[in-house]
Amino acid sequence: MNLPFTRKFILLYILLISSVLIYSNFALAVTKDDVNAVYKEAEQLQKKSASIGNQWRDTAKVLKQSQQAADNGQYEKAVRLAKKAKTQYTLAIKQVDANEAYLKSVPFYDADATPEQDVKIIQAFFREKFPKLPDKEFANGFYAMDPIMRVNWEAIEEFPPYMPTVERGDTLWKTKFANGKSYNHCFTSASVATNYPRWDRETGEVETLPMTINRCREANAEKPLKYGKGEMLALQAYIAYESRGNPTKVVVPADDPRALDAYKQGKKFYFSRRGQLNMACYHCHFDNAGKNIRANVLGPALGQTTHWPAYRSKWGDMGSLHRRYKGCNKQVRAKPFDFQSKEYRNLEYFHTFLSNGIPVNGPGARF
Ligand code: HEC
Repeated sequence: MNLPFTRKFILLYILLISSVLIYSNFALAVTKDDVNAVYKEAEQLQKKSASIGNQWRDTAKVLKQSQQAADNGQYEKAVRLAKKAKTQYTLAIKQVDANEAYLKSVPFYDADATPEQDVKIIQAFFREKFPKLPDKEFANGFYAMDPIMRVNWEAIEEFPPYMPTVERGDTLWKTKFANGKSYNHCFTSASVATNYPRWDRETGEVETLPMTINRCREANAEKPLKYGKGEMLALQAYIAYESRGNPTKVVVPADDPRALDAYKQGKKFYFSRRGQLNMACYHCHFDNAGKNIRANVLGPALGQTTHWPAYRSKWGDMGSLHRRYKGCNKQVRAKPFDFQSKEYRNLEYFHTFLSNGIPVNGPGARF
């Protein structure tokens, strides 16, 4: 190139500036190390959030998406997603602290009340709220309150969708184990649903009916059944059916402080705000019971435990109370707990105790 000196100079100058720009841009670009650093922070918060039993439904998914983006070399996106997960974990951790103050303002939550005091106040609240409902109607959830739903439900109950499951359970109940014994050797009779969940002094934990069923099996050298489906639900359905009409009578033994503590944990769970929507069970099933939410009428907390397992049209199948707990947790975008987790067993203890006196009418049929 035969350019005059000034032009050469300008060209050189432009080259210099652009290389500086390119270099600085390169330096600003997000690297894999940046992703790793944020990701690690998010993971630590996840651990903390899990250890205090409060995670949101979709946060782990966000963190996973972050990892996928990183694997694809999309580091900027990966950092953005990991930061989003970090924020959600942080808020879930804060939610637990905020609950402490919040719980003090809830009229039905008294951490120090005895189970008997709770039942008295809470049952009185619902009887006053629905003065026309006889006690046994509370066991029918929102069908007791919505006349159109009720007509549909009664039509379903004419050919109950849970009956084949009850019959299967009946057969299983009577089938002998390999050692010649059967469930009758563990249970005094099949009509025991009213006593569950029960307090187990040996383990110092709440024992649910499915746990007793598995204990019985293991004591007789049989493999435990999977919770929440198949044979386990069939046995539960049969036991519920055999227990129909008898009042719920859950016991929190006054002489074992661990039992009271488990009950209190369950009570706290029920009244604590959870999930991204920051709502407690209490928000939907106390004051708002009887009101509409989308296509549903919200049922009252009282009587919610009497009819499990239930056939739900939405599930197209039978499901357990814990499956329903998971569903209600997920609705408010909280991460659900496992079937038979300690959290759900304690919740079931408190929740069922509330319905003491209300007759068991399982299995149920629900939309
Ligand atoms: C955002 C509102 C909402 C929250 C919060 C909520 N639920 Fe529900 N729940 C529903 C709706 C809607 C239904 C279906 C209608 C009904 O049966 O009340 C339902 C149904 C249920 C049922 C089945 C009732 C029946 O008769 O079969 C149980 C049990 C239940 N919820 C327990 C809980 C528990 C325990 C919590 C807290 C972990 C909770 N719910 C939180 C909305 C909610």
